[in-house]
Amino acid sequence: MKRTWKNFLAIPFLIVAASCSQPTVSSEPEAHAPTMGWNTYNTFNLDINEQLIIEQAEAMANSGLKDAGYRYINIDDGYFGGRDPETGRLLIHPVRFPNGLKGLVDHIHSLGLKAGIYSDAGTNTCGNYWGKDSLANNVGLYGHDAQDCEMFFNELGFDFIKVDYCGGTTWQNYYSIGIDEEERYRQIRQAMDETGRKDLRLSVCRWNYPGTWVSEVGDSWRMSQDINCSWRSIRNIIDQSLYISAYASKGHYNDMDMLEVGRTLSQEEDMTHFGMWCILSSPLIIGCDMTTMRPETLELLTNPELIALNQDPLGLQAYVAKDGGNGTYVFVKDIETLHGKTRAIALYNSTNEPQTIGIDYSTIELGGTVKVRDLFARADVETAADNISIEVPAHGTRIYRLESTQRIERSLYEAETAYLSEYQELHDAFSVATAYYEKDAACSGGAKVVNLGRKPKNDLRWLDVYSETGGEYEVTIDILPTPEALQISEWDSNPGGYQFFLSVNDGVGNRVRIDKDGTSATITVTLPAGSNVVRLYDDRYLMPGIDRMTLRKL
Ligand code: GAL
Repeated sequence: MKRTWKNFLAIPFLIVAASCSQPTVSSEPEAHAPTMGWNTYNTFNLDINEQLIIEQAEAMANSGLKDAGYRYINIDDGYFGGRDPETGRLLIHPVRFPNGLKGLVDHIHSLGLKAGIYSDAGTNTCGNYWGKDSLANNVGLYGHDAQDCEMFFNELGFDFIKVDYCGGTTWQNYYSIGIDEEERYRQIRQAMDETGRKDLRLSVCRWNYPGTWVSEVGDSWRMSQDINCSWRSIRNIIDQSLYISAYASKGHYNDMDMLEVGRTLSQEEDMTHFGMWCILSSPLIIGCDMTTMRPETLELLTNPELIALNQDPLGLQAYVAKDGGNGTYVFVKDIETLHGKTRAIALYNSTNEPQTIGIDYSTIELGGTVKVRDLFARADVETAADNISIEVPAHGTRIYRLESTQRIERSLYEAETAYLSEYQELHDAFSVATAYYEKDAACSGGAKVVNLGRKPKNDLRWLDVYSETGGEYEVTIDILPTPEALQISEWDSNPGGYQFFLSVNDGVGNRVRIDKDGTSATITVTLPAGSNVVRLYDDRYLMPGIDRMTLRKL
């Protein structure tokens, strides 16, 4: 007998019970948490139909996935049937969906689930170009924003839309319409708002981090090319996620793409895939066939402690706390309470060999006694008093919830954890003068920020520089030698050195000056109690590469 979730549920002794009462996600998902659902594309590609989607929706409702928080049944590319040449009305594929989509959406809703649909910001879809789906030509939103949004959301009752960009590019298109992504996605969000529905989710699909504007329009946005069911693809997407934690916030998330869990990856790789998507607060959109899931897939996808980490009310994405320099990383994020005593960490091994990965608790600002819980095993574990050190298998990840008795004030802020106001990955950063993150083994934390300055908005912001009581701090900024950023003395005291500005909470800028052979500068600033924004900027000149900021309370 093939083992699937249906016969798995009939064998109670296989079900691993939660060993103690840890906070878990309630069956009603957090309103502003990453979307949890399923999408047709990874398993079925363009070859979709009504019956298949009904079966998947029923599997979600009955297998325990719905109870674990999964809600959205999302129809991807493949349902299009062209447009009516007279009225411009979008048509639905007559063979795959002979009854249209209204009854299907109603059925999904009757199961207590939500329904998602797919379109393109341009004229045609990726399925039209790559899949040669001739009925998917001229079906994108371009020129039809209001008409299609009215149909999707008010007439058919969809709750979610993924908007792709094949029809907006020239290289995946039969012709060019020369659109701008920011303008187009803003127009689409506006058309969605104008339907009067307040509960709609927009998933932006632009295959790289699009730009900071995207948080104003998208509930989530893709930050990578399409995922595929290979370890290489999972590793690459995690690699592209290392330094973009600052762009995630409550209700707005980096989308690492639909899950390949439960297909052909090894169990260890599936755990890394799911666990990292959880701690990095990606939407969790299942991509396997839910009607034939293996028991271990269902158990992983419904692990309540990992899901709680993903749906955590703070909405934070974990950042790199330690780069082991050998393909291992420790990620950390606050959970439950900002600046509180509970944090989550992931020990991630991207290499093909087992690796010992560890970190001192003080490095992640925890002190006193630390209680450790393994979220995969769902069991408490013992570690040394002041650090954790674990052998992690090749391609493996271990994720822990740490509950300490003391939170230490953070004193190290790596540049690669900061928010860059002009950050984007779509256009050549030099031509458009936007800063970016770059790996550099010589840097603390293994990375730096370069190409800052030259215009007012192209700055670096540490958005949450926390001072428990407020007061005076010595702030040290470490930089990298950057010959192009040396300024030929406009100011006599520092000929041929570096200069830029530092402000706190957008107050008056403090001049930061560093000799041409220097690598750091220290100034004194006052931080009010609570969370502060420390900004580095230069409105006119290129700034040197920034490595990190350290704080010392005076
Ligand atoms: C791609 C997109 C995929 C899928 C596909 C459909 O552009 O990234 O997730 O939607 O189009 O053709």
